[in-house]
Amino acid sequence: MNILLLGSGGREHAMACKIAESEQCSTLFVAPGNAGTGCEQKCCNVDLDPMDFDALRQFVLAHDVRMVVVGPEAPLVAGVADYFYRHSDLRQVMVIGPGQTGAQLEGSKDYAKRFMQRHNIPTAAYRTFGSAEVEEGVAFLRQLRGPYVLKADGLAAGKGVLIVEDLKEAERELRQMLGGKFGQASARVVVEEFLRGVELSVFVLTDGKHYKILPTAKDYKRIGENDSGLNTGGMGSVSPVHFADKEFMQKVEERIVAPTVRGLHAEGIGYKGFIFVGLMAVPDGSGGLDPYVIEYNVRMGDPETESVFPRIRSDVVDLFEHVWRGNLQQVPLVVDPRPAASVMMVSGGYPEHYERGKRIEGVELVKGCKVFHAGTAKADDGSLVTSGGRVLCVTALSDSMPAAMLSAYQELEKVRFEGRYFRRDIGQDLLKMLI
Ligand code: AMP
Ligand code: GLY
Repeated sequence: MNILLLGSGGREHAMACKIAESEQCSTLFVAPGNAGTGCEQKCCNVDLDPMDFDALRQFVLAHDVRMVVVGPEAPLVAGVADYFYRHSDLRQVMVIGPGQTGAQLEGSKDYAKRFMQRHNIPTAAYRTFGSAEVEEGVAFLRQLRGPYVLKADGLAAGKGVLIVEDLKEAERELRQMLGGKFGQASARVVVEEFLRGVELSVFVLTDGKHYKILPTAKDYKRIGENDSGLNTGGMGSVSPVHFADKEFMQKVEERIVAPTVRGLHAEGIGYKGFIFVGLMAVPDGSGGLDPYVIEYNVRMGDPETESVFPRIRSDVVDLFEHVWRGNLQQVPLVVDPRPAASVMMVSGGYPEHYERGKRIEGVELVKGCKVFHAGTAKADDGSLVTSGGRVLCVTALSDSMPAAMLSAYQELEKVRFEGRYFRRDIGQDLLKMLI
């Protein structure tokens, strides 16, 4: 069958490779894709905006597309799945991604918190304030101990969460947020308790009733080593996360994943797609760890997908078909036991100002690792150039995590472009925890 994948990042390149591996996939169209997806077997980039639903419809009908896989959250939050359900000529198309109501789990932090409260899912204590409740919000902050966590309710391009040490600064930030610092996204602000622990990402694929828990991963968000400096889209990832052992994952499943899927079902929210649960593993006081939800996302993570998807051995198109048909329990999820490490190369200056159009050399020299493209493009002369902040991600799978890290770093050195920067400590914190 023909399949359409929406998105253009490293996540989508990693997804595209897995989808194209399936015998069921004839042509994989990627809208708009990047220079990496454009070169994969069976793949074809198409110049379509994932937010232009009418254009997607025309394309799907004209190219006999049977399955649409949605990479990023924006089209989901804007209702792309509902658009497909609403049009009778698209009803047979399998859309992998939730409808607009389910997508509120990511689209509104307040919605997600209320959902978790209704279903007794462990998360930080919180209150939500609107622009008419600034003084109540300030009074609430004064009852808390720092650091203070302020979250814009709506989507704010990954910038809507502030963690502030000082109470006065928190008060000032809250006033600014409710005053429109992030536009409509911060018309309401969630103020929540600070959780101390280690973060990890858990991914779930669900048909709305049954689910599979995909390999765990950890991403590295800050630009600088030892998690210093500005937040980025993600500088690397590893999978699995060793402390998410059987006991911990049992807690995650019983306390979080099962109640989330049950809750969606009980509330009549059809959900066919991924749920990305951002977790904090908090020491339970007796040597164990308890999982708390920091956030839900309604898509896969980036750059976690770059280390999670290469570890999936099952045919993902087959998994997606079962998601669509509501019988996901009938197929096994087979995972490669080898750990994966992914390191992102970024443009100099990112996440602030950076230049594009730098020539990239050496990708073809990389051996035994996968290079996933994120911000790349083909120049007029056919050469590969940078076109974004996050440029390329090198993923290695190996028999141990240190070996995977070593291999990713060795191979990455072969890829060069002016201003290239990467973090040298991806995965190091987890290794230190083992010593
Ligand atoms: P979010 O956009 O919700 O993922 O938040 C961005 C980052 O802020 C998370 O990845 C965490 O590192 C941090 N964070 C969010 N909520 C909390 C919390 N309640 N306690 C501690 N850190 C948090
Ligand atoms: N890696 C975090 C995210 O995709 O939101």
